[in-house]
Amino acid sequence: MKSCKIVAVYGSPRRKGNTATLLKKAVDGACDGGAQVTEIVLRDLKMSPCLEIYGCNKAGECMLKDDFQKARDQILASHGLMLASPVFFYTVSAHTKILMDRFQSLWVKKNWVEQTRKDQPKLIRKGLFIAAGATQGKKLFDGILLSLRYFFDVIDMELWKALLYRGLDFEGDVLKIPDYLDEAYLAGKELAQALRNETKL
Ligand SMILES: Cc1cc2nc3c(=O)[nH]c(=O)nc-3n(C[C@H](O)[C@H](O)[C@H](O)COP(=O)(O)O)c2cc1C
Repeated sequence: MKSCKIVAVYGSPRRKGNTATLLKKAVDGACDGGAQVTEIVLRDLKMSPCLEIYGCNKAGECMLKDDFQKARDQILASHGLMLASPVFFYTVSAHTKILMDRFQSLWVKKNWVEQTRKDQPKLIRKGLFIAAGATQGKKLFDGILLSLRYFFDVIDMELWKALLYRGLDFEGDVLKIPDYLDEAYLAGKELAQALRNETKL
């Protein structure tokens, strides 16, 4: 039996931070749920921020040639995405934001180059988003969710589930809360199962 493809994107600069630990659990769950998971650690990639030169106006292809193209192709070839980022100044980490911004080339491709009709049926991918922040603020995830919604829209991704954790600051904080780790594992497993059911894989 073929398995569904999920890409897991680690958006924190910390390799063993709270969001990386949670995402690793989700990856374990997704693998146990029968998914084929590709992991991308953004801090290991050479990826320039968007330079807003709009070379993508011509054919919808980003002119900056670096690790973005491979990451983009992996994400676009997937049925699901699991993205994890810490809250940095009420939005995603810089590493995550750079990846999001580089997808402006895809936005340009769809809206300016190909002028894709809004009502055109499109492949809907499912996304699991994991975020952690230090404080307890009521609006802690408002900014991040807004950025995410528009990013997911560009890559035809529905926000299937968001795991948003307050009160996590120092590396290892999340290890003291096994419930969060269990929840992340289960979310990964359920995402794989949902994708397999939906895509009849
Ligand atoms: C540059 C920077 C900005 C941050 N901004 C916020 C913030 O706005 N709100 C908050 O609650 N925590 C903030 N934090 C704390 C992180 O969100 C928190 O430590 C989180 O658990 C880190 O996740 P990680 O271990 O996966 O990197 C910030 C940390 C850094 C380094």
